[in-house]
Amino acid sequence: MFIKKIGIDLGTNNVRVYVPKKGTVINEPSVVAISKNDGKILAVGLEAKDMLGRTPDSISAEHPLKEGVIANYKTTEAMLRYFINKALGGVHLFRPEVMVAVPSGITSTERRAVIDATIAAGARAAYLIKAPLVAAIGADIPIGAASGHMVIDIGGGTAEIAVISLGGIVAWGSVRIGGNRFDLAIAEYIRRKYNLAVGVHTAEEIKKTVGSAMFISKPLTVDIKGQDMVSGLPRIVTVTSDDVTEALQHELDLLMKAVKDVLHDTPPELSADVMDKGIILTGGSALLRNLAELVVQTTGVPTYVAEDPLFCAAKGTGIALENIDSYKRSILATR
Ligand SMILES: Nc1ncnc2c1ncn2[C@@H]1O[C@H](COP(=O)(O)OP(=O)(O)OP(=O)(O)O)[C@@H](O)[C@H]1O
Ligand SMILES: [Mg+2]
Repeated sequence: MFIKKIGIDLGTNNVRVYVPKKGTVINEPSVVAISKNDGKILAVGLEAKDMLGRTPDSISAEHPLKEGVIANYKTTEAMLRYFINKALGGVHLFRPEVMVAVPSGITSTERRAVIDATIAAGARAAYLIKAPLVAAIGADIPIGAASGHMVIDIGGGTAEIAVISLGGIVAWGSVRIGGNRFDLAIAEYIRRKYNLAVGVHTAEEIKKTVGSAMFISKPLTVDIKGQDMVSGLPRIVTVTSDDVTEALQHELDLLMKAVKDVLHDTPPELSADVMDKGIILTGGSALLRNLAELVVQTTGVPTYVAEDPLFCAAKGTGIALENIDSYKRSILATR
C-alpha cells in the first residue's frame, strides 16, 4: 500500500505519526542527537535517546520544541524529515500530503518554518492545524457542529484550552504548564521535604505511579531511591500521593486559572453548550489521576478524559487529512 497521507502531532516530548487506515505508526520522543564537535545530526527519536545514554561526552541532546514552540528550526526540519521517511518506509514513489498539528499560539514566522520544514522534508503538500482542534477530532468530538465544546489538551510542555464551534476556535488560552513542569516541581518538593535529590525521570515515575491532582482519602505510596543531600549516599524514602498533590499545587492553580479565564471569554450561548456537553481532556498529562475531578471542582462543568489521550491529536490529524473538505475551515496554513 502506498502511503499518500500522513498526520503528525509535533509535541514537546513526543512525535506521533498517524497514517489513515493504519493508525499510529510512529510514537517516539522528540529528541535529536547532535555531535558537539561539528554540529552534525547523528540520530533522531528513540535512536537518539538510546545513543544519549551510552555516549555522554561528545553528543548532546536537542529538543527541537520547547514548551510547545519551535526552539530550533534546523533540528525540527531534520526530525520531520526523519519521521516522514520512516513512516513512508524504504523506497517511495509518491510524495505524501502531510498535516501537522501545531500549538494554537504559533506565530506566522513559526508557521512558515513548519510548512517549509515539512515541504523540505519531502511532502507534496503541507497543512497546519491547531492542536486543540485535532485533539478534539481525535477524541470523537463533532467539531463542525454549531455548538460549543471545550477541550483541554495538556502534554509535556503546554496546556492548550479551547472552546470550539463550527470547526473553529472561539475562545482559547495556552499556558506553559505540562508534565515537564510537574516533574520539576515534584523533584524540587522531594529535595526540600526529604533532603533527597532525585532526577526528573524518577519524578515522572512517581507522578505516574502515585500522582494525583487532588488529595485522596487513602493516599497511595511508592518507595523511591535518591541521593541524600547531606551524606551523598543513596537512600530510600516513601513518597505519597499527597506529596505529589502538594508539589503540584502551584502549577495546578495556574492551570485552573487559565481554564476559568477561557470560560470567562466564552460567549454565553456557547458556555451553555459547554456546560451541557462537558469538558474533554486530551494529551499525556490528562492521565494525571483526578485531574478531571479537579476541573469539575473548579468549574462545575462535567469533565472527561478522552480515550487514549496520548494519541488523540495524532489521530485527529489523520482524520482531518482524510476528510480535508469537511475540515477546510479548520486549516491554519497550507502549501
Ligand atoms: N499516567 C500518567 N500520569 C501523568 N502524566 C502522564 C502519564 N502518562 C504520561 N504522562 C505525561 O504526559 C506527558 C507527555 O504527553 P504528550 O506526549 O501528550 O506531550 P507532547 O504532545 O509531546 O507535549 P505538548 O503537547 O505539550 O507539546 C509527559 O509529561 C508524561 O509524563
Ligand atoms: Mg501534544
